[in-house]
Amino acid sequence: MSKNLRALAAKCVYAVVDKGRSLSDELPKQQGLVESPKDKGLLQELCYGVLRYLPELEHHVRRFVDKPLKGKQRVGHFLLLVGIYQIKYTRIPDHAAVAETVAATGPLKSRHLKGMVNAVLRSYQRQPDSDDTLPDAVRYNHPSWFLKKIQQGYPQDWQQIVTANLQRPSMWLRVNRQKTTVADYKTLLAAAEIGVASEDPDSHGLLLSQAVDVTRLPHFHDGWVSVQDGAAQMAAILLSAESGDKVLDCCAAPGGKTCHILERSAEIDVTAIDIEAERLTRVKENLQRLGLTAKVLCGDAADTSDWFDGEMFDKILIDAPCSGTGVIRKNPDIKWLRRASDIDALVVLQRQILDAIWAILKPGGIMVYATCSILPEENKEQIQRFVKENQDATLLNLTRANASQDWQILPGNESMDGFYYAKLQKSANV
Ligand SMILES: C[S@@+](CC[C@H](N)C(=O)[O-])C[C@H]1O[C@@H](n2cnc3c(N)ncnc32)[C@H](O)[C@@H]1O
Repeated sequence: MSKNLRALAAKCVYAVVDKGRSLSDELPKQQGLVESPKDKGLLQELCYGVLRYLPELEHHVRRFVDKPLKGKQRVGHFLLLVGIYQIKYTRIPDHAAVAETVAATGPLKSRHLKGMVNAVLRSYQRQPDSDDTLPDAVRYNHPSWFLKKIQQGYPQDWQQIVTANLQRPSMWLRVNRQKTTVADYKTLLAAAEIGVASEDPDSHGLLLSQAVDVTRLPHFHDGWVSVQDGAAQMAAILLSAESGDKVLDCCAAPGGKTCHILERSAEIDVTAIDIEAERLTRVKENLQRLGLTAKVLCGDAADTSDWFDGEMFDKILIDAPCSGTGVIRKNPDIKWLRRASDIDALVVLQRQILDAIWAILKPGGIMVYATCSILPEENKEQIQRFVKENQDATLLNLTRANASQDWQILPGNESMDGFYYAKLQKSANV
């Protein structure tokens, strides 16, 4: 029997919002229950969409439901969000959206809510707009604490940021120059009718005109190409490791940047560490698919005593654990899973990692600090503190960012994710 996608979407969003599970864990579980790629895609669209517009959708539910749905009825609340999202934001005809959403009460074992779901969705169809003055969190579809932080950090650009966070992300590819060339791979894409919007000559990155399923990418399983955002591809460019360099990638999983470093030259001696052993499996899989070799270790970047063998590194990438506030387009659940209190703890961890890792960089060596965050405390302020406290650290100009000393990419800039980069050199005479 075919599964009701609205029921699966309601369960998935319920698990994220109420149970605090991550979308990247929950969605594949629900997608595993449906067969066709088209259904998997629609399920994804419904879950991502509801998480993008959660406050606004909940506002509409409050307009038509007197008593909030609690306990065993709670999943009905998420089903209503799925229903209203379809009517407002998808091209699914309203009658089909309503019928399928009402039918989902069956598989959700909530048949007693059938009449109510039907009535609420029909009321919304009749009165899609409300005259209420909406609080900013609802108007901009972001939690209040986060909205305030964006407004404080970016008094000029905050609206552009919150708007970008609601968009669907662009899809970038990174061509593996150890296997093929960008020109040849573009020919293969054209033959597969996959359009390329632009190309980054430095990184070997291609921006696709439209996102496609990875299964459609020519020679993906042979390691000719990887999916990696254009902003993330700047890490290896800025690190500019060369043949013979001994490089550390100290927060490496799932290995996107480790692999990019090696694709630029397989003669680089790369050590990839991460604190999560399970995530390191992904690093090994990616290295294998792309035909690359690195030393892969489980270890804590904030405490090198357990894994550092005493031989210092020429170049180090710290792709630090962070709030992920630059990649909300790809991970809309971040808005609801992150808490304001997480940020302080992350800033402390980043600081510990910076301090510990600096000690194992050779004199004259280069360290690139990166986050996929847009919060100044994790980025500019973190690095300014570091440079102030470490007399042997000099910030270098970044060739890719108009020669400024750090680079805050905002979500949507040049179709990229939000990312931060700073490049530091350790003085030669220590
Ligand atoms: C932003 S992700 C890295 C993404 C990766 N560089 C890539 O391009 O695929 C941050 C990583 O830091 C790891 N991490 C968190 N705390 C760490 C620590 N104390 N030491 C080492 N790795 C840590 C997390 O497990 C996570 O895999």
